[in-house]
Amino acid sequence: MKEISERRSIRKYTSEPVDAEIIKAVLRAGMLAPSAKNRQPWKFYVYSGNSKAVLLDEMEKGLIREREGEKTLPDSYNGLPDAFNTLRIMREAPVIIMVENTNGSSPFLPVSADDRITEICDTLSVGAAVQNILLTAQEMGYGTLWVANTCFAYNELAEFAGISGQLTGAVVLGVPDEKPSARPRKPEDEVIIFR
Ligand SMILES: Cc1cc2nc3c(=O)[nH]c(=O)nc-3n(C[C@H](O)[C@H](O)[C@H](O)COP(=O)(O)O)c2cc1C
Repeated sequence: MKEISERRSIRKYTSEPVDAEIIKAVLRAGMLAPSAKNRQPWKFYVYSGNSKAVLLDEMEKGLIREREGEKTLPDSYNGLPDAFNTLRIMREAPVIIMVENTNGSSPFLPVSADDRITEICDTLSVGAAVQNILLTAQEMGYGTLWVANTCFAYNELAEFAGISGQLTGAVVLGVPDEKPSARPRKPEDEVIIFR
């Protein structure tokens, strides 16, 4: 409960690098998550230093293409300024972990109802892994940001990272340089229904 209630999305990081052993420890926590049919449909790609800079150049290319050129998510255009802000945060942070659903496929391909059910289950499984990562990082004194704004540069990032399954997003990891207060949550009686 301590880590659950004290975790915040961190959008400001110090430049302090994160030791590979720390990164492995939080990812091992991710690997302990439950998964549908125990498929463990996850893979984590760790970027730091120059590899991170080049990865984020690709993300920037994708965001600019989405803003000024061919749009892959035209109905989500309003979300682009936030995506550029997320990119800025990612540039400042020491570590980016790209998260793949290894059993998934590109969101731009059609999907049958059967495959969508499988995809929902795998997405939930990957989400459980990511939450383990966030909470373990919190316990170890690190800050995180769960990022889905990678979606605007989906094709650029998936190709660059060699992700042939589904890129579900990224986790930013580093030493926090801010202490945000808790963001609001919906009232209990709106969310919890006893019948
Ligand atoms: C699946 C998912 C995707 C998210 N994507 C982004 C993102 O791309 N950029 C960002 O700044 N925050 C992102 N967030 C963070 C949310 O905005 C944040 O969790 C929410 O506002 C609640 O704040 P808290 O995490 O501090 O409790 C994402 C969170 C989740 C769970």
